[in-house]
Amino acid sequence: MAEGSITLPLRLVAIRYAAQDTNLYEFASPGGGPLPAYEPGAHIDVCLPGGLMRQYSLARPYRADQGYLVGVKLDAKTRGGSKWLHEQARVGAAFEIGVPRNNFPLKEDAPHTVLIAGGIGITPIWCMAQRLEEIGASFEVHYAVRTRADAAFLAELERLAPRLTLHVDVEAEAVMDVSGAAAAAPRGAHLYCCGPAPMLEAFVAACAGRPADHVHVEYFSAPELKPLEGGFIVVLAKSGREFEVGPGSTILETLRKAGLNVPASCEQGVCGTCETRILEGTPDHRDLLLTPAEKASGKTMMICCSGSLSERIVLDL
Ligand code: FES
Repeated sequence: MAEGSITLPLRLVAIRYAAQDTNLYEFASPGGGPLPAYEPGAHIDVCLPGGLMRQYSLARPYRADQGYLVGVKLDAKTRGGSKWLHEQARVGAAFEIGVPRNNFPLKEDAPHTVLIAGGIGITPIWCMAQRLEEIGASFEVHYAVRTRADAAFLAELERLAPRLTLHVDVEAEAVMDVSGAAAAAPRGAHLYCCGPAPMLEAFVAACAGRPADHVHVEYFSAPELKPLEGGFIVVLAKSGREFEVGPGSTILETLRKAGLNVPASCEQGVCGTCETRILEGTPDHRDLLLTPAEKASGKTMMICCSGSLSERIVLDL
């Protein structure tokens, strides 16, 4: 479990098949009471045995009489969270679940919204689509899957036609033209993308000419974190303690080795749990969450993956 984060004792009340290797898991309060609210784009931390914690996006807009519903794709290449959920999780089991957090918020009053998803990235996108439909907003969904059997929420999504463009790689013998979909969006539109790293890269490149606050990306895992180079000193302002962070090591690892409890969850620079205020020094940002402007401001950093360009960095810890 993430040290320092707020968790709720919930029960797994349903597991439902959604697509090939993709299940939906619903967590609810054991007493049936309402859960803390969230906005579309939010995710929850699911605490798993062995200290694993994984983030999963919520798949439907909040309602006080419903539990938290997440989509989980079995991925043999991941660090084991999806495998455990697919193979071991049982309905009725107790789980510690983080209070929903949102790094991918939906701007509901945009004149038009373009939603682009690849694979399991459909989960927050489908949540957003349901909300936009509910409020009568103008939107379109572009959804890429490898085969039709991989498409979750397909029957519901097809009801959105003609606002849905489904792209099946094996049928088209090509990957989706993300750049084309983004380029066709009207000026003033807000664009959202959640999917694998190559899709996100194409999306970000295609949106380069648009205002940064109109372009929204959700990484569900870090494709590749660049290694940190060189050592530096981290100073914790509240206690005045100093630690040497060795080459290739992270601040988080160093503080943990020293026996300190620091909030963290994904440890890949994608969730924001470990965001820490910088009081002095120049960070070497390696996360996928802060915007370029936030990175340039040097006010905060993700200590699970980012380092320091200055010899010392002083943190508000
Ligand atoms: S723990 Fe998730 S960004 Fe650092």
